[in-house]
Amino acid sequence: MAATKGNIEPKKKTPAAKDEIVIHAKGLKKSFGDKEVLKNITFDLKRGENMVVLGKSGQGKSVTIQCVVGMLKPDGGDLEVFGEGVTQMSDEELKQLRIKIGFLFQSGALYDSMTVRENLEFPLTRVLKLKDQAEIDKKVEEVLDNVGLLDAIDKMPSDLSGGMRKRVGLARTLIVNPEIMLYDEPTTGLDPITSREISELILHMQQKYKTSSIIITHDLECARITADRIVVMNDGEYIAEGSWKELQKSDNELVKSFFIETT
Ligand SMILES: Nc1ncnc2c1ncn2[C@@H]1O[C@H](COP(=O)(O)OP(=O)(O)O)[C@@H](O)[C@H]1O
Ligand SMILES: [Mg+2]
Repeated sequence: MAATKGNIEPKKKTPAAKDEIVIHAKGLKKSFGDKEVLKNITFDLKRGENMVVLGKSGQGKSVTIQCVVGMLKPDGGDLEVFGEGVTQMSDEELKQLRIKIGFLFQSGALYDSMTVRENLEFPLTRVLKLKDQAEIDKKVEEVLDNVGLLDAIDKMPSDLSGGMRKRVGLARTLIVNPEIMLYDEPTTGLDPITSREISELILHMQQKYKTSSIIITHDLECARITADRIVVMNDGEYIAEGSWKELQKSDNELVKSFFIETT
């Protein structure tokens, strides 16, 4: 054996972080009664990537991400998050997994009887079980500052506009530092200017918090702003994939219809 002076340890091969897969889905199927909602969903989400799932309503987009967090169980296919099979997880394992996954629901509901500060303290005390008030205050202020809403810290949700509520919802999800973010229609119900601001904020937060995200939307502008990669979903399957520019040139009629409707 040839001894190498001063360098006995073999070099560990560390995969390039950007190629690491955080969610792996292969051939996912899900039916409700005789309605086949997911027919064959296959995708990989890489670390640090923003993947947009673009599709009209009722195509199974929300069902897909509910499977990812174990709220729904697929009938078939493989689903791994951080290399672990989600469908085989115990309730306790699912609980641990969900701490690492931020889920911004379509409604993005805040607790109406709590101030913005209290809404943000909630996940810190309930999920992370933090007790040190100075640490809690620091985290709340930091995340609010990041979403541009430090001024609103003592306001009630009812005093805020729709866009501001979305920002607080986003802050509440990000405050526990999730590794994966799942956004379900983040711009629905907002006017075009506010939609754009929220989309830009999602992009900014990806860079700031280094999250890997799935962004579900039927808003083409949101897809354009946030996506590293777009998959187009129709009738329980992914029918196209590419960057904004690639999809814009697609020959697929359904993909084309998205671009025609909104531009
Ligand atoms: N928990 C459920 N029980 C029964 N049907 C459901 C359930 N969740 C979703 N569906 C049905 O699955 C289809 C796809 O829903 P969804 O994933 O919410 O669509 P979208 O692409 O708009 O997010 C719809 O027809 C919906 O009614
Ligand atoms: Mg939906």
